[in-house]
Amino acid sequence: MNAQEIRKKYFEYFQEKGHKVIPRASLVPQDDPTTLFTGSGMQPLVPYLLGEKHPAGKRLVNSQTCFRAEDMDEVGDNRHTTFFEMLGNWSLGDYYKEEQLPWFWEFLTKELKLPKDRLWATCFEGDKKLGIPRDDESAAIWKKLGVLEDKIVFYGAEHNWWSREGEPSRMRDGEPGGPDSEVFYEFTGVEHDNKYSEKCHPNCDCGRFGEIGNSVFMAYKKKSKGFEPLPKPNVDFGGGLERLAAAVNNNPDMFKISLIWPIIEGLEKLSGKKYAEHQQSMRVIADHMRAAIFLAVDGVMPSNKTQGYVLRRLLRRAIRYALDIGIEHDLCEKVAKIVVDIYKPDFPEVEKAEKEVIEAFIREEKLFRQTLRHGLREFEAYFKPAKEYDTKTATQEEKIKKMGHYKPAPSTLTGELLFKLYDQDGFPVDLSKEESRKRGIKIADDADKVFNQQMQEQRKRSQTASAGMFKGGLADHSEAVVKLHTTTHLMYRALKDVLGDHVVQRGSNITAERTRFDFSHPQKVTPEQLKKVEDIVNQKIKEDLPVSWKEEKTPEAFKKGASGAFGDKYGDRVKVYTIGDPARPFSREICGGPHVEHTGIIGEGGKRFKIVKEEASSAGVRRIKATLQ
Ligand code: SER
Repeated sequence: MNAQEIRKKYFEYFQEKGHKVIPRASLVPQDDPTTLFTGSGMQPLVPYLLGEKHPAGKRLVNSQTCFRAEDMDEVGDNRHTTFFEMLGNWSLGDYYKEEQLPWFWEFLTKELKLPKDRLWATCFEGDKKLGIPRDDESAAIWKKLGVLEDKIVFYGAEHNWWSREGEPSRMRDGEPGGPDSEVFYEFTGVEHDNKYSEKCHPNCDCGRFGEIGNSVFMAYKKKSKGFEPLPKPNVDFGGGLERLAAAVNNNPDMFKISLIWPIIEGLEKLSGKKYAEHQQSMRVIADHMRAAIFLAVDGVMPSNKTQGYVLRRLLRRAIRYALDIGIEHDLCEKVAKIVVDIYKPDFPEVEKAEKEVIEAFIREEKLFRQTLRHGLREFEAYFKPAKEYDTKTATQEEKIKKMGHYKPAPSTLTGELLFKLYDQDGFPVDLSKEESRKRGIKIADDADKVFNQQMQEQRKRSQTASAGMFKGGLADHSEAVVKLHTTTHLMYRALKDVLGDHVVQRGSNITAERTRFDFSHPQKVTPEQLKKVEDIVNQKIKEDLPVSWKEEKTPEAFKKGASGAFGDKYGDRVKVYTIGDPARPFSREICGGPHVEHTGIIGEGGKRFKIVKEEASSAGVRRIKATLQ
């Protein structure tokens, strides 16, 4: 059974158990400023896990595309990827452990026919300080299902607790989380490597085990002091599709599955080289191109900021690794086509965006190849013997006197230079080293150490920047953010009224301090137009319009003029927020909420809406930052 068939079977199995299939959410979270990317299946469902009603009901199933930028440097072994699909089934305050674990077990052993004796289960060992008991219930269920006692292992919160931020101590106020129970597949024929741990166990990183499913029993909400039980506990199940497919293949090399292997075959053909001899390069290219395609399908374009920068890094790394296997041009065009062909039968949006995405990638590749050439020139210039005198300021006399004198060329590639070439000139580290070796230039012993130190310092700088940028936000549902959220709806409508109906939301990010809104518009918005938008929004705040929501069938919602966000997919039914008299609304938007109940709340304390910045975000997309002051 291949990966596509596993996905289909999973949907069918859970549909039979009363679940509704919901579409994947965009890889770029909408209205969730806490993170740049959707990295798990539960992320887009947080409002519903906290108690909002989901239009599709209480039992949901989906396959959520996920992207984890933090894993980029790990890619290259047989199991790490930045992009993956997470199969998910959800009980929103409906069924619990007694149904979830036997269903998943049945899916694994009957539908996928995985041998029972290769399956292990892990459970939460409890935490007295937090007052959360050991999960003996799950262990008893596993035992009853036939998991051998020595294959049921208890772990602490570092492995068997799930929230978006990880362990309980790292969770923000209001964040949902809970103990989880994971299933691991033990591959045959993989020897334990005691470099990782003395004795092998399911969470050992040696590669013998692969985690294939995680049932989170989301029963708690973090409060400033400890935890509060959710009114109705949820089940949040997530299982990596690619890992399940690797288990079904009984081959720990995830790159051999049907969603990736055609890319590797394509690379073998393009390069004339064999996967067995070039695993690392081919894996990096295959992973990065899959991720890049989905990011671009979801509206990200290469740029120097936030998501766009990550996409740029993916493409550049892919192009750089392609050099290793001798592919010197047209990588993006050729490989992107293979990726599109794999996914288009199941993701129509991939086919729809194909032309635009591939054109953008071709432009990016051209640009980067110029960067590579520029980096090479910088490298060569540095290692050329320099004239003793300053060519610009030296007098003719000095020049004659010193004629023929050269400073000796630097003879060592230092960590500082390595970092400068990488950071400022975009010249990859491996290339700098390779060029040095070719020219007989010594590489300083501490070059890697110094490079890594500088890299870490830079990472710290950018983390601080992004922590500041995404401080607070809609995810914590604070009053300031909710007010700005409703204000953003007013602004979206006002922008359409002033600029025209071509204005479509391309992204939004709301913190307690400001709303940031990206939308399609071909030129700069004039100060007069911005003033008009401000006036309309302030007028609507003053009119104290009611804000209400209703569930509607998706086509009907669109027919009645609701707007949505570019790159977002919608299920059969959606929640539509209306501002104003529902018979003659000012704004209608597909949105998960939450919002203020009437617009007057936004203006409390004499606050007025003010646009503080208007700038280009990417080609054809403008960005507005606005506050209440
Ligand atoms: N949220 C859990 C995870 O990401 C299960 O969906 O593993």
